[in-house]
Amino acid sequence: MSGLTIKTGAQFSAILGIGGYRPRRVVDNAEIITYIDSSDEWIRTRSGIAERRWACEDETVKMMSISAARKALDRSGIEPGQIDTVIVATVTHLYQTPAIATTIASELGATGAAAFDISAACAGFCYATAMADSFIRSGASKYVLIIGVERLSDITDKHDRSTAFIFADGAGAAVIGPSDTPGIGPVVWGSDGDQSELITQTEPWNRAMDPTTFSDGQPHWPVLQMEGNPVFKWASYTMAKTAAEAMDAAGVRPEDLDVFAPHQANNRITDAMFRALKLPSDVVIARDIINHGNTSAASVPLALETLLESGEAHSGQTCLIIGFGAGLVFAGQVIILP
Ligand SMILES: CC(C)(COP(=O)(O)OP(=O)(O)OC[C@H]1O[C@@H](n2cnc3c(N)ncnc32)[C@H](O)[C@@H]1OP(=O)(O)O)[C@@H](O)C(=O)NCCC(=O)NCCS
Repeated sequence: MSGLTIKTGAQFSAILGIGGYRPRRVVDNAEIITYIDSSDEWIRTRSGIAERRWACEDETVKMMSISAARKALDRSGIEPGQIDTVIVATVTHLYQTPAIATTIASELGATGAAAFDISAACAGFCYATAMADSFIRSGASKYVLIIGVERLSDITDKHDRSTAFIFADGAGAAVIGPSDTPGIGPVVWGSDGDQSELITQTEPWNRAMDPTTFSDGQPHWPVLQMEGNPVFKWASYTMAKTAAEAMDAAGVRPEDLDVFAPHQANNRITDAMFRALKLPSDVVIARDIINHGNTSAASVPLALETLLESGEAHSGQTCLIIGFGAGLVFAGQVIILP
């Protein structure tokens, strides 16, 4: 046997356009403290969050994804029909099957594209970026649409003091395609399943819906539960190391970096990573958490869109992105902004 014919793709890939969707309803800390025993001052000081968006009924995972994707497509100059792969990163598409990516591909006009969802929580966008880059360079795909989307308000107990003020909703999308120059650096990624209990759904669906599971004889809608402090320490210390490895892998020194856009989990985590990485003071830092809370898979693309739209960051700049969250999972890479 003479072996198989294999395909090779473009030498490099890059993000060609980014778009976001933020739900209409603004929920400020004054509203949050009607649900939990807390204060505006505590929430701002401990997390940085002043307000967040919670989706209204019509702002579904699909609707937010399509809105964000259309913006990303417009900005990239790529037609929906050119997209041959759609990856949706989410933990809040509440159907076990089918994946939401297939309907999104059809409704956008990416007819027949390979389409699937991934579950990598707050690292979802960075996982999807790494996959898109590999698919394009291997020849498996030419243009990939990636979407990070969450309606975390659906699975957050608004009376739980450790999560109610943090989690929020939104969608961010990016079109990734071939490039003459490197636009996506090597990913540094991994997981730590020994710490999977730190952020988890309270019950699997079958137990949650079974009234005999609970002492009150009622089914209980499953929600996120989180041990904030160990997550905080893991993110602040371990993730700085991962971020430094992503910079090393891309051959980028702290002084070469223009923008730092980590997952928007907590402003204090961002500050701790910034200090540990010894980044110069003129590096632009994403602070989307202040107005949008933690939107998990949507947080990195939404933060990038905010920086690009406000003019704080520009096309062609070198940017470090890193996502980390439930699993535990993490992924970071250096990108060139579209
Ligand atoms: C959630 C988080 C903001 C809490 O901050 P923290 O500094 O770790 O706070 P702790 O849990 O240690 O609690 C400190 C004190 O605040 C109190 N507290 C906890 N939640 C509170 C709230 N919502 N409002 C007011 N006080 C609160 C605690 O009872 C504790 O009081 P005590 O000192 O009297 O015992 C922080 O741990 C965090 O951001 N963790 C990471 C979250 C995250 O990124 N999750 C997603 C990963 S993708």
